[in-house]
Amino acid sequence: MTDSQFDHQAIRSQFPILDMQLGDNPLCYLDTAATSQKPQCVLDAMNEYYVQNNANVHRAAHQLAARATQKYENVRMQVQHFIHAATSQQIIFTHGTTESINMVAHGLTEQFQQGDVILVDGAAHHANIVPWQALAQRTGAKVIPIPLDSNGRIDLTAYDDLLTQLPKLVALSHVTNALGTLNPVNEMVAKANKVGALTLIDGAQAVAHLDIDVESIGCDYYVFSGHKMYGPTGVGILYGKLNALEILTPMLTGGEMIKTVSFNGTSYGELPNRLEAGTPAIAEVIGLGAAISFLSNLPKIQIRQHELHLIQYLQQQLSQLGDISVYGVTTDNDNIGAVAFNLADEHHQDVGILLDQQGVAIRGGHHCAMPLMQSLQIKGCCRASIGVYSNQQDVDRFISALTEVKSILL
Ligand SMILES: Cc1ncc(COP(=O)(O)O)c(C=O)c1O
Repeated sequence: MTDSQFDHQAIRSQFPILDMQLGDNPLCYLDTAATSQKPQCVLDAMNEYYVQNNANVHRAAHQLAARATQKYENVRMQVQHFIHAATSQQIIFTHGTTESINMVAHGLTEQFQQGDVILVDGAAHHANIVPWQALAQRTGAKVIPIPLDSNGRIDLTAYDDLLTQLPKLVALSHVTNALGTLNPVNEMVAKANKVGALTLIDGAQAVAHLDIDVESIGCDYYVFSGHKMYGPTGVGILYGKLNALEILTPMLTGGEMIKTVSFNGTSYGELPNRLEAGTPAIAEVIGLGAAISFLSNLPKIQIRQHELHLIQYLQQQLSQLGDISVYGVTTDNDNIGAVAFNLADEHHQDVGILLDQQGVAIRGGHHCAMPLMQSLQIKGCCRASIGVYSNQQDVDRFISALTEVKSILL
């Protein structure tokens, strides 16, 4: 699929920041996995909320509050349909993936005891590791990493073996942020369900690229952030099966989440409010709704093919450059959104800085996935990542800038 086979420019032109000049160079943005750029419709929706509808939700009897509440609750239904959840009660607004996972890990404290096993994807983002370690510390449970193969992918045989330990919970990434590798979550969740484990899927790197169907995945919890799917920062989602949400002890208590309060005792409200204490990020939720509309209106098949083509083109161009190690790629060619690499023995930070001097924004570091880096026996790597707005010129500019970096460093 080439850009000319559908009007890709019409999509790209909705992102005003992409016209930016950085010094002498136009911006070449290849750091979408860290955060995506925002289309004008998201900026407009947030602005419109503040200019025309600003009021607190759920509280007052006045018209403005009713309008704000309706817009806020409409987004809950939009998210429900977007990820194919059965009811909107299962959609909890949070501030992002990190908070969503912490809410689950904190909320399950009373369900865990000494010796319980938590299996965690060995390639997970720290946000999907550290909250489980903290839960283990509180309860005496133990966290066991699911081993990876030499490509940084989950070793499915090792996973099967670990399931014989009857874990209480399995935490997986849908798509890994460092390498863009796709986990077979449907199959892995089905196996975990068979041994009675709860399952949490971190979808932060998946929602902007794949169709998500939480019912068919069958997981107990699915979490993601608005800012990686063309929405604003400060909003995220915790989806859960109703019974899986009901067993969570609220991490935050206070206003909005109660039924009655007295100094003799307080009772908590129903889902979803029970897990949404305090004033939520209303404008951000509305911005997320605009991002979902934006994503839903894209020509889905063409965009998927476009992204796949770009990633493969990126991998191909990198390997032709020479002196490049690419991580996490197999003959399945199923990487999503990102390519991780190193230039010879050069430090990823030096490569990133020299690319930035040419206007090319990529990410260098451990990508909040230190255990994965340890497993690949590297300190860190560079990562170029794409979004719906990325095009072949971005890849060509990146490769020509990297050629320049190579001539400086090698
Ligand atoms: C796979 C994955 N999980 C979790 C996170 C944390 O997301 P947030 O910082 O939005 O909470 C990220 C962010 O990079 C991620 O890529």
